[in-house]
Amino acid sequence: MSAKDSKETGPAEKVKAEEVKLIPVYVMGKRYYVPETLTIMKAMEYAGYRYIRGCGCRGGICGACATVYRKPGDYHLYVGLACQTVVEANMYLTQMPFYPANRASYDFEQLTSNPEEIFKLYPEVFRCIACNSCTKVCPMDVPVMDVISAIKQGDIARAATLSFSCIQCGLCVSRCLGELPQYHIAQLARRIYGSKIVPRAQHLIEAVAAVKGGKYQERLEALMKCDIKQLTEIYKAREMEPEMAGEDWTPAKRDYL
Ligand code: SF4
Ligand code: SF4
Ligand code: FES
Repeated sequence: MSAKDSKETGPAEKVKAEEVKLIPVYVMGKRYYVPETLTIMKAMEYAGYRYIRGCGCRGGICGACATVYRKPGDYHLYVGLACQTVVEANMYLTQMPFYPANRASYDFEQLTSNPEEIFKLYPEVFRCIACNSCTKVCPMDVPVMDVISAIKQGDIARAATLSFSCIQCGLCVSRCLGELPQYHIAQLARRIYGSKIVPRAQHLIEAVAAVKGGKYQERLEALMKCDIKQLTEIYKAREMEPEMAGEDWTPAKRDYL
């Protein structure tokens, strides 16, 4: 990330000052005036910062843009995703593009659904003192403490289900008094749950068998012979799911399913 004073460089986006109210925000202690409607991410870019790390999807999915901030006269330490959180006047902020968290090394094929295996890989799970700081800090409303509690109780399915929305932003790790890498532990629980606990979906088994049996080989080879113009035409002509289609919608052309 690099930064220059916005007064020196001018705005990165074309916003007319008379149309948008500018408010002061403090990025790593330096004041910038930015349009009040921007997200933190866009405000920092407006101020002259360029994201090299700490920015990915810009849609609240990748977890790359964890931000911490405070407001004047307020003891609370706020957190959020820079791409989702709108600036507020006089907020003091900084981004945490990465927070160190050790990830255990394992051969996933060798693991079973026995929770003891998670305990061996992440013995620090028992360092949790149930302070709930992780739950309070999570921008995705994952009940992180309950996830860890479920793992300690050997309930991998519950841990996996409760942590489904985790985007691995690392904010929980930053506040953990027990020094746990919660999101890595929860990810392992989800992987074990998805691979070794939940029954395999029959339709997926059938689809994999169809691929391996060569059902699509001829079509794939035909596509591979197309030039870019032909591929574009095929792509544009494809049947698309209509907006607001019900759950029972299926394409009219089904011979390739
Ligand atoms: S559980 Fe932790 S890593 Fe996952 S989204 Fe919440 S704070 Fe971020
Ligand atoms: S922040 Fe750490 S110690 Fe506190 S409840 Fe969460 S996992 Fe446990
Ligand atoms: S950039 Fe991906 S969550 Fe913010």
